[in-house]
Amino acid sequence: MALSNVGFVAPTFHGIVGRSKQMLKIFSMIEKVAAGDSSVCIEGESGTGKELIARAVHFASPRRDGPLVTLDCVAIPEGLMESHLFGHVKGAFTGATETREGVFSLANHGTLFMDELSEMKLSLQVKLLRILQSREFSKVGSSTPIRTDIRLVTATNRDLLKASVNGSFREDLYYRVAVVVLNVPPLRERREDIPLLVDHFLRQFTALYRKPIREISRSAMERLVSSPWPGNVRQLQNVIEQAVALTEGEILREGDVFLDNHPSPPRRVSGVLELESGLLLREVERRYILRTLVSVGGSRTIAAKRLGISLRCLQYKLKFYSEQDQANGQANGQANGAQDASNHRSVPDLEPGMSL
Ligand SMILES: Nc1ncnc2c1ncn2[C@@H]1O[C@H](COP(=O)(O)OP(=O)(O)OP(=O)(O)O)[C@@H](O)[C@H]1O
Ligand SMILES: [Mg+2]
Repeated sequence: MALSNVGFVAPTFHGIVGRSKQMLKIFSMIEKVAAGDSSVCIEGESGTGKELIARAVHFASPRRDGPLVTLDCVAIPEGLMESHLFGHVKGAFTGATETREGVFSLANHGTLFMDELSEMKLSLQVKLLRILQSREFSKVGSSTPIRTDIRLVTATNRDLLKASVNGSFREDLYYRVAVVVLNVPPLRERREDIPLLVDHFLRQFTALYRKPIREISRSAMERLVSSPWPGNVRQLQNVIEQAVALTEGEILREGDVFLDNHPSPPRRVSGVLELESGLLLREVERRYILRTLVSVGGSRTIAAKRLGISLRCLQYKLKFYSEQDQANGQANGQANGAQDASNHRSVPDLEPGMSL
């Protein structure tokens, strides 16, 4: 099965690939809720794309030019959580050598994405509830109230309603954060998305690894489509990356695909960039930029924001890489006399098509 042509853009919605009816429903819900300010809670297994969806809510909303601030409730030690949320004033506690802003200030006029919300301690849940009610907070060590204008988006791997029934999550907070609930189904329940995702990741990783892969065998694709994917899209992405890195020829075959169906998928592994030593700085930059594009689902707008450069600058760099790849392809073609330069896949045109 030939890959889609370079330049083909899979139907995506703000970088989210999908055509199953469940995903189309999620896209249309995002469009509807993005216009307003209601709190959105995204529920789904690990690796289903909750963070991508959170970003889509922000970038589809009128707040898109404001900040999108993420707070991972698992990553932050309990003792530092309040300071991360509200900020602190100098001298508020040992080690508070400077006044710092918390996410409620940083996300002002934008979106605050609280990841893994179900892991937040009950004592902090009360404080969060108070802020959501009053839209006011004060820094640790200060009593001056500060107003905040944020849209709250949360994500969780657990069923929050169940957690609120069994007492590990406050029920009153649940009804505040879950005004709109987006349930992201696991990949095994929307297998029609798999070929599209495979194509999407193949295009991205062949560009990243500069591989001339043009086709995936039917049996390899069938295997990917029928696999159970306990680690969901993240696991599929990892499997394709590994296959691309290992494949030498133009066809990715069943034997190139390594499936481990009992993985404990590491979180955010796709954010890790492994580099061999001795690389030129410009090659490191190229890989880092392409990796960032992959990790944000291919959206140039979001990637540019994340990299802290302008969209124009990113577009310029991608065009440069593309031309460089083509030039290398031609040089290689001349060197071995036979190879067609068009075999070399250029940096894919990944901007989400908004074609829904
Ligand atoms: N529909 C999709 N289209 C394109 N890429 C996707 C899609 N869903 C997930 N991904 C990619 O898969 C990886 C995992 O997605 P993401 O981090 O959003 O999952 P998650 O649900 O937040 O997982 P966790 O619960 O472990 O934090 C990311 O690299 C993301 O870009
Ligand atoms: Mg996540």
